[in-house]
Amino acid sequence: HDLSRFNTLGLPCRAERFVAPTSAGQLAAALTLADEQNLEPLLLGGGSNVILPPRLPRLVIQPAMADWRWLEEGECPRLEVDAGVVWHDLVMALAARGIWGIENLALIPGHCGAAPIQNIGAYGVELADVVEAVRVVSLHDGRESLMDAEACAFGYRDSIFKREMAGQVAITGLILRLSRRAAPRLDYGDLAQRVPARPSALEVAEAVCATRREKLPDPAVLGNAGSFFKNPLVSREQAAALREAHPGMPQFPQAAGVKLAAGWLIDQCGLKGWRRGHFGVHERQALVLVHHGGGSAVELLELAAEVAGQVQQRFGVRLEREPLRVGGDR
Ligand code: FAD
Ligand code: EPU
Repeated sequence: HDLSRFNTLGLPCRAERFVAPTSAGQLAAALTLADEQNLEPLLLGGGSNVILPPRLPRLVIQPAMADWRWLEEGECPRLEVDAGVVWHDLVMALAARGIWGIENLALIPGHCGAAPIQNIGAYGVELADVVEAVRVVSLHDGRESLMDAEACAFGYRDSIFKREMAGQVAITGLILRLSRRAAPRLDYGDLAQRVPARPSALEVAEAVCATRREKLPDPAVLGNAGSFFKNPLVSREQAAALREAHPGMPQFPQAAGVKLAAGWLIDQCGLKGWRRGHFGVHERQALVLVHHGGGSAVELLELAAEVAGQVQQRFGVRLEREPLRVGGDR
C-alpha cells in the first residue's frame, strides 16, 4: 500500500498492509490479522508528525471512527471524540458553538487520536489543559481502558505514549472538558492585536489560523511536518551566558529552566531558506524543514543533522527531533 499521500512530508513509503477500521470490532479484527500474519501493527493518523521509511513491513492501522458526542452539556461541557476525527474540524465546530478550550489549537494538522501522543500545543495552550482521559486499546491483548490525564504524563511535546507506552496501544478516543465561559488566551505573540475586544472563540480560532498561514507552509503545497525540532530547554546559567553572548536571543523562563526558540537559533546560523538536494529549511520559519519533492527519509535526516550540527557548534545547544521516525531510533 502506497503511503506517500498519507504523510505530510510526502515521503515515499510502501507498507505491507493498510486498514482503516471504522468500529471497535474492525479494530479488533485488524489486531487479530496483525497477529496471524506476524506483522507488527503501526497506528497512523494524518501522518503529519512521522518520518516514514521507503519500505514498511508492517500492518498500518488508521483509525477511521470519526464521531463525537456530548457526555455532559451546560456551562462546562464534556465530550468524547473518536480517534479518526480531524483535529482542526473539531476545533472549528466547537469554536463555532461558542465553546472555549481548544481555539488556540486551530489548524494543527492530524487526527484526534494522535493529539495526546506529543500533547499538541500552540499559542500558549496545550492539549493537556483540556484532556480528562484518553481511551486506549492494548495492541497485545485488545483490552480497552481509560487513562486519566495524570497517567498520560503529559509534558512539552511529550507523553507516556512516546515513552514507556510507545507502540503498546491504539488511542481510540479522547474525553475533553471545555467551557462555555469566555476565556480568551491571547498572551502569545501578537494574537491580542489580531482579535477585537471581547472576541468570540471563533474569532480567536480564526486569528490563530491567519497567524499560522503567514509562517507555516501548507503541506498540500510543500511537504513538511511542522516544527522539525523541539524548542530546547537549558539551565538558567546556560541561558544567562547565551544572553550575554547574543543579546537578542528570545528566552522563555519555565519552572525547570529556560526555553529557547530553536527557529531563532537556526535562523541565526543563516540557514533560513537554505536548500540542499530535495530538502531545505523553510524560508519563513526556520524550524520547519521542507521537502521539495523526490527525496527520501535518509536524505531528510542528513539535512536535519547538518542543521542541528551548526546550531550545536554555534550555540552549544543540542536540538532534539520532534517528528517520530518510524522503524528507526528516536
Ligand atoms: P501521525 O503523524 O499520523 O502520527 C504521529 C505519531 O502518533 C506516530 O508515532 C503514530 O504511530 C502515532 N499515532 C497516531 N495515531 C495514533 C493512535 N490512534 N493511537 C496510537 N498512536 C497513534 N504539532 C503541535 O503540537 N503544534 C503545532 O502547532 C503543530 N503545527 C504543525 C503544523 C504543520 C504544518 C504540520 C505538518 C504539523 C504540525 N504539528 C504541530 C505536528 C502534528 O500536526 C501533530 O503532532 C499531530 O498531532 C499529528 O497528528 P497525526 O494524526 O498526523 O499523527
Ligand atoms: N524565530 C526566528 N526565526 C525563525 C523562526 C522563529 O527568529 O525562522 C523566532 C520568532 O521570531 C520568535 C521565536 O523564534 O521570537 C518563536 O517563534 P514562533 O512563535 O514562530 O514559534 P516556534 O517556537 O518556532 C512553536 C511550536 C509550534 C507552534 C508555535 C506557536 C515547537 C517545537 N514549535 O514554534 O508548533 O505552532 O510555537 O505556539 O514548540 C509543531 O510543534 O510542529 C509546531 C508548529
